[in-house]
This record gives sequence, C-alpha cells and structure tokens, in this order.
Amino acid sequence: MDWTRKDLLDLQSLSAEEILTVLDTARQFKAVGERKIKKVPALRGKTVVNLFVEPSTRTRISFELAEQRLSADCINFTAEASSLRKGETLADTARNLEALNADFIVIRHKAAGAPHLLGRVLNAHVVNAGDGAHEHPTQGLLDLFTIREKKGSFEGLRVTILGDILYSRVARSDIWGLQKLGARVTLCGPPTLVPPVFTELGCRVTPRLEEAIADADVINLLRIQHERQRKGMFPGLGEYTSLFGINQERLRMTKPDAIIMHPGPINRGVEVDSEVADGERSVILEQVTNGLAIRMAVLYLLNGGHVPPAEVN
Ligand code: CP
Repeated sequence: MDWTRKDLLDLQSLSAEEILTVLDTARQFKAVGERKIKKVPALRGKTVVNLFVEPSTRTRISFELAEQRLSADCINFTAEASSLRKGETLADTARNLEALNADFIVIRHKAAGAPHLLGRVLNAHVVNAGDGAHEHPTQGLLDLFTIREKKGSFEGLRVTILGDILYSRVARSDIWGLQKLGARVTLCGPPTLVPPVFTELGCRVTPRLEEAIADADVINLLRIQHERQRKGMFPGLGEYTSLFGINQERLRMTKPDAIIMHPGPINRGVEVDSEVADGERSVILEQVTNGLAIRMAVLYLLNGGHVPPAEVN
C-alpha cells in the first residue's frame, strides 16, 4: 500500500493494513541494522528535531539513532534551556523550528494531544513520541513487531497487560494495535488503575492476577506511573507487589511459552523481579532493539518512502 499520512499521532486512527506496512518495513530496516554498513541515504538532506519536553532514555536515543542511520540531520531540543521557560508557547516554538527548515518534529510532551496540535499547525511531519497518558504509537508498534517475531501472528493471540493501565499511554497504543490485528487483550491491576470502563474498548478486565496470566501468550508489565498519578490509587508499593508483582513463583503459573514484555523503565522488585526481568522468557531488551527498526520505518514512510524500501533491498 502507498503511505499517505503526514504525521504519526496514534494507533487509534491507523488501519490494520497501515500497521502491518510499518511492521513489514521495519523488518527490512532490522536487516539493515545487522549489516556491516548500517546507514542508508533515505533521509539525506532532511532535518529532524527531537522535541522532548519530558524525560526519556529509550525513545529519544532510538529516534536519534534512527535519524542518523537514515542519514538525516538531527537536532535535540533541550526544553530546560529553551524559550519555553520564558513563556513561549509550544506551537510558537514548533513554528520557529519549522522556520529553520525542520522537516520532522518528534515530540514527547506531558499534555495529551500536544502532537495533534502541532500536526494541525505545521507543514512538517509530526511524530508522537508519547503524549501524557494518551498514546505512545512507536512503543505500540515496537511491541507489535516483537510479538509478531516471537509468536508469528496475532489472530486469537491472548495478550495480558498488567499494572497501571489508567495512566499508561503504552497500554492505550497496545490495546488499539493488538485489537486491530486480531489479538485478545486482558487488562489486570488494582481496580483503581484498571477501571471497568476499559471493557468498552473491547478488553477483558479483571483484578485477579492468576486469571489474567493463566492463559496468556504474552504478558506485558507496566510501570506504576508515579509522575502522572494522583495520590491514593492503591495503599502502597509493597501491597502492589504482593498482589500483582511478577516473580518466579507466578511465572510458573503461566503457559511455558508465554513471553514477558515491559516498555521500560523497569521498577525492579515492584512490578517485576530481577530474575524474571533478566530471565530467558523476557524479551525486554529485544523490544528496545526493535524500537530502532520501527522508528526508522516510521520516518522512512512519512517521508514518502516506497514499500518495500528500495534503498534497503
Ligand atoms: N518506553 C519508553 O518510552 O521509555 P523512555 O521513557 O525511556 O523513552
């Protein structure tokens, strides 16, 4: 299919065909990453500004590396040292970056909808690198890519997302993407963090951990999002761990081929024990590796790249 979107803002609005196009394109770019020469000229002459107004390790570094591998010029915007601190609006900041010939703006922001605002006011391509508790589409795509690599297909696959669903942008992107591709999604955690309203998105919702993990092919663990929570969502981290933390004993209750995922950063000893996070069923670092290929694919497609990518065949 031809890619016609200017921006990547969410997975809610993408079709299954568009999602599969990104995954197929990323597979080609993953192969490029295994070559001796890992660079392709696809974005030569283009400028990408990484506008991160919230902290990030994985997403920011992998976007920067993806831009370099595609031969783009990339600029990392430092919010604390910018005129945002003097009261300049986000839209004005982005318009000024565009006036400096930015072709792409990759934005992470604490406000849900910030990338959508920029998508409306800019001619430049806008990529959502996480907006508040709304969506994190490239994380969703790299999760889908990793699941497809490990499990082959999505139809009928059972995926459990465990933890702080209410405040998780990763959960929302995963839910949209997984369901569009035919997977069945179960959400589990304290009822305050997994309200029954999520059944309206087509998910099974349960506060019972054993029920949620027993038949899962994939278990995706989420961090407690302290920075976005109001106080009092559950009594304490100790209680959360005793009810929902994944340790070796609980891993034995799962299917023997169930994989453990986590978008990072991990709170070791809270949502997952180190033995499980670093164990043979964990694909957590493979998710990070796959994120590079996904971000290369997204930038390539938004730039009008051919499918399959001519430059990487
Ligand atoms: N998964 C993820 O978004 O991690 P970072 O916050 O480090 O980018």
